Amino acid sequence: MTSAAERGKTKYQINLRRYLRECDVDRDLTRVICEIANASKYIINAIRTGDLGVAGTSNLYGEQQLALDVLADRIIQKRLMYSGVVANLASEELPDIIEVTHPSNKRYSIAFDPLDGSSLVDVNLAVGTIVSIFESDNLLQPGRNQVAALYVLYGPRTTMVVSTGKGVHEFAMNQLMEFDLVQENITMEGGAKVYAPGGTRAKYSPGTEKFARHLETNGAKLRYSGGFVPDINQVLIKRGGVFMYPHLSDAPQGKLRVLFELNPMAFLIEQAGGAASTGRGRMLDVEPQGIDDRSPIFIGSKEEIARLEQFIAEES
Ligand code: AHG
Ligand code: MN
Ligand code: MN
Repeated sequence: MTSAAERGKTKYQINLRRYLRECDVDRDLTRVICEIANASKYIINAIRTGDLGVAGTSNLYGEQQLALDVLADRIIQKRLMYSGVVANLASEELPDIIEVTHPSNKRYSIAFDPLDGSSLVDVNLAVGTIVSIFESDNLLQPGRNQVAALYVLYGPRTTMVVSTGKGVHEFAMNQLMEFDLVQENITMEGGAKVYAPGGTRAKYSPGTEKFARHLETNGAKLRYSGGFVPDINQVLIKRGGVFMYPHLSDAPQGKLRVLFELNPMAFLIEQAGGAASTGRGRMLDVEPQGIDDRSPIFIGSKEEIARLEQFIAEES
């Protein structure tokens, strides 16, 4: 397919649905991606005007849920339930996998984090939605089997970054709340312009500490907001950098969740020519044991991630 740049600016911007069609993306998969795009309009409204308080419930990790977490979860669940193409759903905010009972050809199963970084809304920082898509009824499989992944970033602009296995592309929401193509085939370059060190530095292992010092002495700028989506987006759009939420002395599995956060982001970054590691191996090869699995994560420029794995191997 000729790229948007080769085609030049058409009279109309190329919107998400048209772009996926021109890339011969399966109609049912396009349906899933466009349902998330539609859901994001209601989530934006909820973020801007919704209740910032607690919901009085907790998620499958035992973390207190915010009203926004529950609302965003319901908005996405409903659209996917009625999409007619989904078999099973798993949400970071739900205790179990849900089987779709409404009429459906049951082609795809989706794991999603409806509102990542929700605790940042009250300090007005960027948050996001993260989605992982399998063409299967089984969600407990390695992330390398995903057929697509995406995130929506609710920042000064609302953008969607998506891959169906044919490169990584960015769309921005226009004044009609439709997503228009901004850039396609985003590719990570070498080096690390920015780095996002999650967790508490004093609890880093010697290998991780050595890597953080390496990044700093090589001029990487510390860019950490506490929101996984904006922090990863910066590494991707700047074409170079590292995000890490490592194993910590009191949290050997780190903090981030395999199904809802790490598999989709690892898929996207690998599709952009980057790498994602648990520190000891490829993130997308992890065999999840349960929907609440967590893992340490080091993700970004390929040669930096290779260096990290070397430091961890040397220091352990
Ligand atoms: P969520 O809001 O879905 O629970 O995710 C929050 C995550 C992720 O967005 C971010 O990278 C990480 O928490 C930040 O953790 P710290 O607050 O410990 O830095
Ligand atoms: Mn999250
Ligand atoms: Mn969340």
